[in-house]
Amino acid sequence: MTTLITGGAGFLGTYLTKLLIAEGEKPVLLDPAPMPETLKSVSAEIEYVRNSLDCLSILINIIRKYSVDRIFHLGGMLSAPSDENPWAAFNTNVAGTYNVLEAARLEGVKQVIFSSTIAVYAKDLPATPVDDKTLQRPTSMYGSTKVFCELLGRFYARKFDLDFRAIRLPSVIGPGARTMNMSIYNCWAIEKSLNGEPYELFCEPDTRCPVMYFKDAGRAFLLLSQAGRSQIKTQVYNIAGIVPAFSAQQLVNLITRKIPEARLTFKPDPAMVELLRGIGSLVLDDECARVEWGWKIKYSLEEMLDDFIREFKSK
Ligand SMILES: NC(=O)c1ccc[n+]([C@@H]2O[C@H](COP(=O)([O-])OP(=O)(O)OC[C@H]3O[C@@H](n4cnc5c(N)ncnc54)[C@H](O)[C@@H]3O)[C@@H](O)[C@H]2O)c1
Repeated sequence: MTTLITGGAGFLGTYLTKLLIAEGEKPVLLDPAPMPETLKSVSAEIEYVRNSLDCLSILINIIRKYSVDRIFHLGGMLSAPSDENPWAAFNTNVAGTYNVLEAARLEGVKQVIFSSTIAVYAKDLPATPVDDKTLQRPTSMYGSTKVFCELLGRFYARKFDLDFRAIRLPSVIGPGARTMNMSIYNCWAIEKSLNGEPYELFCEPDTRCPVMYFKDAGRAFLLLSQAGRSQIKTQVYNIAGIVPAFSAQQLVNLITRKIPEARLTFKPDPAMVELLRGIGSLVLDDECARVEWGWKIKYSLEEMLDDFIREFKSK
């Protein structure tokens, strides 16, 4: 099995890379960024291609050269950069995903796993929990690109029998997350405190945001990929994360208990508060993932923070 990870240099891509190496694979990573420090220790166990998914031919060449039969498509622009530069987000997220699917079709790649987001939900939400049938009406460029990609993947599955699957991740927390996005305050509040630096959270104390630990997210990608094709009915799955969603103040309280020298304050940024408003009220139902491929979260809020601290100190 040869797996291509687009966005392999990113926060989730690097963790998934290590999971695949642990399974005995030599994954191929595609990313325009230079190889990150976190991958230097495993550089002999990966193929690193510093390039972009903007170009169909590049993807085709990679798939041919390494005989890729599975793609984890994680490369793309996150929420804040997409809102700032929607034109670039269109090229990277929309055209880029088209390139991935088209290259997979032309080259006979067996499976494409796509990382979508709960930011596909924003307006006109029901009072009941949001499940896989809830209307997706994003207000952000990021969420809009992801809805299109989910639908495009479903089309490729129907028309060309491509084994396309996707998960809608909540905000993912873990050490080493660098890309600015609306929920990054969760990661940075912990990491800055561990570094002995003060940090101003750009949300409000009662902001809630569904989150999960990066180790759970990595495991979700693998579980989804490994499920037999007959188990996959819904195709694109909500993942609820830690339930109930905790507030920023609850996180700050817990960090301060575990890291007494933490200096955390709030300085709400109106644009971010607005982006977070829709997401904060989401109550997610991930029953389809649980029933169809056995999804179950492992890390609670406190377990997540403990493991985050352990991971940080071990580096
Ligand atoms: N981190 C989260 O909280 C979260 C939540 C929901 C969904 N997701 C999705 O998961 C995926 C991975 O997110 P992440 O947190 O690792 O983000 P990240 O920003 O750390 O990683 C994304 C990677 O994509 C790469 N990339 C950008 N343009 C590219 C291009 N043209 N070609 C190839 N690679 C390109 C970037 O260089 C980066 O390394 C993304 O698709 C994101 O939308 C993330």
